[in-house]
Amino acid sequence: MPSHDETARAAPATDENILEAAGLLRAGALVAFPTETVYGLGGDATDDAAVAAIFEAKGRPSFNPLIIHLSSREAAETVAAFDERARAVAARHWPGPLTLVLPRARDCPVSLLAGAGLETIAVRVPGHPVAHALLNAVGRPVAAPSANRSGAVSPTRAEHVAAELGDAVALILDGGPCPVGIESTVLDLSGETACLLRPGAVTAEDIGTEVGALEIGDVSEGVRARDDGAQILRAPGQLASHYAPKAPLRLGCADPRPGEALLAFGADVPDGFARVLNLSGTGDLTEAAANLFAHLHTLDEAGVSGIATMPIPEVGLGRAINDRLRRAAARD
Ligand code: TXA
Ligand code: MG
Repeated sequence: MPSHDETARAAPATDENILEAAGLLRAGALVAFPTETVYGLGGDATDDAAVAAIFEAKGRPSFNPLIIHLSSREAAETVAAFDERARAVAARHWPGPLTLVLPRARDCPVSLLAGAGLETIAVRVPGHPVAHALLNAVGRPVAAPSANRSGAVSPTRAEHVAAELGDAVALILDGGPCPVGIESTVLDLSGETACLLRPGAVTAEDIGTEVGALEIGDVSEGVRARDDGAQILRAPGQLASHYAPKAPLRLGCADPRPGEALLAFGADVPDGFARVLNLSGTGDLTEAAANLFAHLHTLDEAGVSGIATMPIPEVGLGRAINDRLRRAAARD
């Protein structure tokens, strides 16, 4: 058994290592694991000390609540209060890249610190087989933000986690690159009107008619007025500046500056950039999402002076990609 404070080992996500990871989580240690979206920094959500360790490892402001990961909707119902809308959406999209914000269940065992004191809770049943096997083996809710330092680019490979958070985790389960590559869609169903707080692979169109009218939240505002006039916190983690690479980002530009790299999209790539990485040469948005954070990590490591990005169509997954690029470009 490794001690919990040694530098993290990245280990292939074999059945044996998944069981070891589950044991570490139950003992209060932090474990990084792959989901279909990005790697998560997991801790036992019912353990205040483990949750505090997550905030510390990320350098995250503690008012920013964590997503609680569970192995099934039945398990999610022990921590969150589902209504008919929530059950319908969950039946269609879980397991998968969708997080639901719901009222906390009565007797919810999740640490209040994980929820940053909110009366709501964000829950998700991930579809990645390694995440699923791990959550089954732990048998407890697992709090897991993306496994990066607060404000930095999300990790889509085990190496990204090792480079940034290596010392803080007892084990990194390596399940290869994350297939979706962008964090889950966050849908708030805690109020009367459904509100999309963070765009992701499950699009507004996919959420469909089950929820009635769908408000599109301005997630960077952090608060919205409730029907009774009170202000409530909305996706408070969606600060304007987020996912930020070290090099400054310029959006939708085709005119190179000295030393600047290009994050391209499609076949028609302009000349003159110091380095070009293409999100998708065929203009495929799914491929582009899967490559987005890995390409930002690569360009950051290459030490380019800046990153220009080509325009991405504002449809389907393109909305989530543009949302992340705008936040990556924000410098406040
Ligand atoms: O794909 C994902 O969702 C990844 C993987 C690991 O599951 N996790 C992730 O977690 O992106 P994180 O902590 O980086 O982002 C969680 C977002 C934050 O913007 C947070 O503010 C919001 O969800 N959130 C969490 N609880 C909330 C709540 N009760 N009400 C509103 N927003 C909430
Ligand atoms: Mg994050």
